[in-house]
Amino acid sequence: MPIHSLGYLRLNVTDIPAWRRFAGEFLAMQEVSGSTEGALHYRIDSFHHRLALIPAETPGLAAAAFQVTDSRDLDRMVTELETAGSTVTRGSKEDCELRQVSGFVSLTDPGGNPIELFHGPRFDHSVPVTPGVSAFVTGDLGMGHIILNMADVEAGYRFYVDLLGFSERNTTESPDGTLYFLGCNARQHTLGLAPAAGPGLLHFMFEGVNLDDVGRALDRAYRYEVPMMQSLGRHTNDNMVSFYVWSPDLHAVEFGYDGERVDPDTPSYDITEGAFWGHHFTPPPSPTG
Ligand SMILES: [Fe+2]
Repeated sequence: MPIHSLGYLRLNVTDIPAWRRFAGEFLAMQEVSGSTEGALHYRIDSFHHRLALIPAETPGLAAAAFQVTDSRDLDRMVTELETAGSTVTRGSKEDCELRQVSGFVSLTDPGGNPIELFHGPRFDHSVPVTPGVSAFVTGDLGMGHIILNMADVEAGYRFYVDLLGFSERNTTESPDGTLYFLGCNARQHTLGLAPAAGPGLLHFMFEGVNLDDVGRALDRAYRYEVPMMQSLGRHTNDNMVSFYVWSPDLHAVEFGYDGERVDPDTPSYDITEGAFWGHHFTPPPSPTG
């Protein structure tokens, strides 16, 4: 597989104190020092950080980063992307330092979402401090999954499947078109492409190792008054038991466990419901609170 996993997310955020509560207290990630000025960096495993929150005037995705094998593989992919018409920018040594990786490139997908391809994450070998989460499910499965908005999902499909080598794992029909769930490792999906007018990060997901991790995360959501977005439920595609909350910038953020692991040649299927049970929706809080 050319792409191994989702490696890290960089988000532009407008309210650093609110995100510090959200990522540190609710998600129970370990805040670590990093060199992106004014930003917060959060660690959940051996990566220096998996989440970087960068102060900005406008919230949004700064980069969804996918890990490739090594520098040779990155070079080969850059050649293929440029041949296919993508504009690819090499990350400088300084920008590699900010990300704590050996090399990366940045580009936008056909939906206008900023993505990065990187190799050589720098490991921290100490035990991560994530109180209330026994361990985050990462390793070969990556940090979790994301759903990206895409004006033309078929163009997105050609980019991620035909060019970057993702596998189609399942689909579902929405009033706006087909939503594709794509995988690049044994995690049932690492990336979803959702039909929408413009680019954006619709949601991101972290996985704990057991039901108690989800239960304790629910307790923290109530304790820190994090607004619920979908109640506890079990998904029909990846079988994950999870709940969703609204982030300070109103992404949906999913926390779950028991996600399905699949073989690379598992055939795709179409789901007609999102959940076997649960996942009842609550709209976002109004801006005035
Ligand atoms: Fe999800």
